[in-house]
Amino acid sequence: MSGKTAETNLDEGVLNNDEWKNRWVVRNIGFHQSQHDGLLDAKEDEMFGGKTKSIFMPLCGKTFDIVWMYKKGHTVCGVEIAEQAIKEFFDENEIDFDVETVENIGKLYKSKDGLLRLYVADLFDMSRELCGQYDLIWDRRSLVAINLIDHEKYRNLVLSMMKDDGTYYLSTVEYDPAVWPGPPHTISDKVVKDIYGNYCTIELLEEKKRDQPKVSESQMEDENPQPKPSSAGAALKTSTYVYDRWYKMTKK
Ligand SMILES: C[S@@+](CC[C@H](N)C(=O)[O-])C[C@H]1O[C@@H](n2cnc3c(N)ncnc32)[C@H](O)[C@@H]1O
Repeated sequence: MSGKTAETNLDEGVLNNDEWKNRWVVRNIGFHQSQHDGLLDAKEDEMFGGKTKSIFMPLCGKTFDIVWMYKKGHTVCGVEIAEQAIKEFFDENEIDFDVETVENIGKLYKSKDGLLRLYVADLFDMSRELCGQYDLIWDRRSLVAINLIDHEKYRNLVLSMMKDDGTYYLSTVEYDPAVWPGPPHTISDKVVKDIYGNYCTIELLEEKKRDQPKVSESQMEDENPQPKPSSAGAALKTSTYVYDRWYKMTKK
């Protein structure tokens, strides 16, 4: 079942495409960071080696990672279900674009120089035939947004879009699943290995444990159920542990 057809079950963290679009309307977009990801600065030389590369970004939102790569001359292809996100991206970054309809898929927003292509579409409607293959996969908060039932389908699709000698950068977050059903879904190191281990060599690039607010003893002993947190951000603050990780993967 893809995001498009998924039956919503917010208690189990299952979101369908309309719900994702609605999150952009009501501005429930806590995942959107105000600047590009720090890993790009830390690993720029290793990732690009002074060359321009092609990058595929599944579930791209309007992340500043896109514009950072594009302004450095790289070719970027992203996929995002919410047209609002893509419109905001081009508007806020003042990039001239053309829009075309892609039959049975959605729309393609293309920068005038052709280096940047952002599809408004369900990722699961995309294919290697339509999009091509890329040097790099940049998966920032994408796998963690995918309904659990779709993990294998997602892996197969995304890996099919990576060149045989390409590199996949994957970010995950791991927390106590009792505090929030997702998204973002909690993804442990073991789950990364379960999903990708047969197909990829996996290297842990970075692991950061978040400083969590202390939960007092009286709070811990309080048997009254706490009110349900209203957002992932609030929920994760109540987890006793939160790990943010970046992995680097290459095809076996
Ligand atoms: C957690 S956000 C991450 C966005 C971006 N990677 C970032 O770091 O800001 C996930 C995004 O995927 C989009 N999305 C969810 N399901 C999708 C699907 N099946 N196809 C395309 N986009 C989808 C949502 O609208 C949302 O913008």
